[in-house]
Amino acid sequence: MKKNQRVLTGITTSGTPHLGNLLGAILPAIQASKQDNTSSFLFLADYHSLIKNTDSNLTHSSSFEIAACWLACGLNPKKVIFYRQSDIPHIFELAWILGCLTSKGLLNRAHAYKAAMTVNEENGAQDLDKGITMGLFNYPILMAADILMFSADFVPVGNDQKQHIEMTRDIALKFNHYYGELLTTPVAQISEDTGILPGIDGKKMSKSYKNTIPIFSDDDVLKKIIMKIKTNSQEPGEPKDVNDCNIFKIFKSISSENDIEELQKKYEEGIGWGEAKGILFENLRDFLFPFKTEYQKIVKDRGYIESVLKQGKEKALEVSTPLIEDIRKAIGIKGF
Ligand code: ADP
Ligand code: TRP
Repeated sequence: MKKNQRVLTGITTSGTPHLGNLLGAILPAIQASKQDNTSSFLFLADYHSLIKNTDSNLTHSSSFEIAACWLACGLNPKKVIFYRQSDIPHIFELAWILGCLTSKGLLNRAHAYKAAMTVNEENGAQDLDKGITMGLFNYPILMAADILMFSADFVPVGNDQKQHIEMTRDIALKFNHYYGELLTTPVAQISEDTGILPGIDGKKMSKSYKNTIPIFSDDDVLKKIIMKIKTNSQEPGEPKDVNDCNIFKIFKSISSENDIEELQKKYEEGIGWGEAKGILFENLRDFLFPFKTEYQKIVKDRGYIESVLKQGKEKALEVSTPLIEDIRKAIGIKGF
């Protein structure tokens, strides 16, 4: 019998979960976990958080919020192995092994590293590596270890992470070439509907850019955030292009075909930006309502969340332990 397909994904615990996380990663991964013949590994990428900040309170509170978010959005802990990355030391051992096989040139091309250098360049820094840590530089290797430690077949991620999955494949093939076929080459599962969701400033919605729409904020806060979405300076009455509009892109990602068509017509008729934002707010509030209601219940029971993660840790270790033992033997780290 064919083994179950393994689906794996994680979220960095460096901020409050946002709409991009929900549509790009959380909902597609939960959907995939419900299929037959699928084993799902969903985790809190808490050591990835250190790449982005040194605020220990933020890492801790974000881990809690993101754990509660997964559960509120329908993760079934009986069916899914749900764990903290930090509970699985084998991942970090594998990251070292993979780092010793990965050429520096591959990491030089990583988007996150290149983006950090571009910021330095734009700020006129002499040293383009100014302020860039080894954590940021090595980040694709840790991510590869997250994936390869559990022999994932599919990795549902937002479009921005595609390059990392390609790098993971390269690294796995190199390992297998030297040491034998122990690692599974994963395939990225990109939600084509969502692609990259823009933030309120039009750049990719990301915790790092502080341009997010948080999933669980109060309605009045949500409304204020929606009202801040950047638009062009067209006046009410002027026909507007849906393809060039952040309000519409966000609306489209959470609305029915009917609602999308209706709003498109209103754009052609010259709807004002204030009114368009009002319509987006209402749809988004309704879309988020069931998740928010569940979240408010779950956050009251910290013990439950902790116990789910403890069980997940034990189940994850049952999978990672035999593979890391085989890997150690294959690379020559073994008893005499
Ligand atoms: P952030 O960029 O806010 O730090 P993460 O890097 O923790 O988000 O991303 C967690 C998951 O959510 C990844 O699978 C990522 O691709 C997805 N994701 C994040 N932002 C977006 C976005 N703007 N659009 C679609 N998916 C996204
Ligand atoms: N790096 C991912 C992000 O920032 C989060 C992540 C860490 C991840 N390890 C992973 C996603 C493994 C998928 C698989 O979005």
